[in-house]
Amino acid sequence: MQTITTAAALRAALSSRSGSVAFVPTMGALHDGHMALISAAVASHDIVVSSIFVNPTQFNESADLDAYPRTPEADAALLQAHGCDVLYLPEVADVYPGGTDESLTAGLDFGSLTARMEGANRPGHFDGVAQVVSRLLEIVQPDTLVMGQKDYQQVAVVRSMISQLKLGVELLIVPTVREASGLAMSSRNRRLSIPETVAAATINRHLSAVTAGLAAGWPARELEAIALRELGLHPMLTPEYVEICDGDTLLPYENGAPVREIVVATAVRCGPVRLIDNRLFVPSLAEEVNP
Ligand code: PAF
Repeated sequence: MQTITTAAALRAALSSRSGSVAFVPTMGALHDGHMALISAAVASHDIVVSSIFVNPTQFNESADLDAYPRTPEADAALLQAHGCDVLYLPEVADVYPGGTDESLTAGLDFGSLTARMEGANRPGHFDGVAQVVSRLLEIVQPDTLVMGQKDYQQVAVVRSMISQLKLGVELLIVPTVREASGLAMSSRNRRLSIPETVAAATINRHLSAVTAGLAAGWPARELEAIALRELGLHPMLTPEYVEICDGDTLLPYENGAPVREIVVATAVRCGPVRLIDNRLFVPSLAEEVNP
């Protein structure tokens, strides 16, 4: 695996190779969830590029940015072991040569996609994500962008950005990887104490109860309220939201509406971190997918 720190060197390295390129953007502190993205990329493309860049413009809390785990040596070893060909490991100035105020994304309108959930709770977050992903796509110029289902709203925003900017890149979405306890893998999990990790594992069980409720035809708003209340009963968990949304518009799902897929999404504070997770329910199949 080649490790490259500048956009110019990355372009030079990629232009000397031929074949399809898959790109896996990350913020490092890599785990098996990221490796599932790398493996999906390796399985379907000739060249796999991954980036590790803790993007300052998407953090709405500076404490979260400062505390974001940074483990570059271990990350590089994992990427190499899983067949990544090129690691792009830039400094902020390489990604944003004109400063972080520069925006390739001015004029984008995400409509209802950013109105709720993470969009409502993390002001500016998705503008920062769209800014960095559009810039990274400009640098890497991949055929396929590979992202994880765990950040469902992020994926919806990036899909919309690709379509609005007519970037012509494919989006490959990989299901969430979970610990044996059901806890969705996340770089932030390593900041949890053991009791907090045990507490966080219950989040997934509450989401499962919601999808079971949807399968049984329970009213969506009632299921949201029950899950929020039950999560909040745990002394180590402070839920911010549980929302049952139309997976395409991210507007509240109304029982019986003819939607392609329903996303049950939550954000929960646990100790020093804020965790997000989701489950998907497909009404036409009357069942959950990618649990
Ligand atoms: O999901 C992430 O890790 C980040 O939001 C991403 C897509 C790498 C952009 O910084």
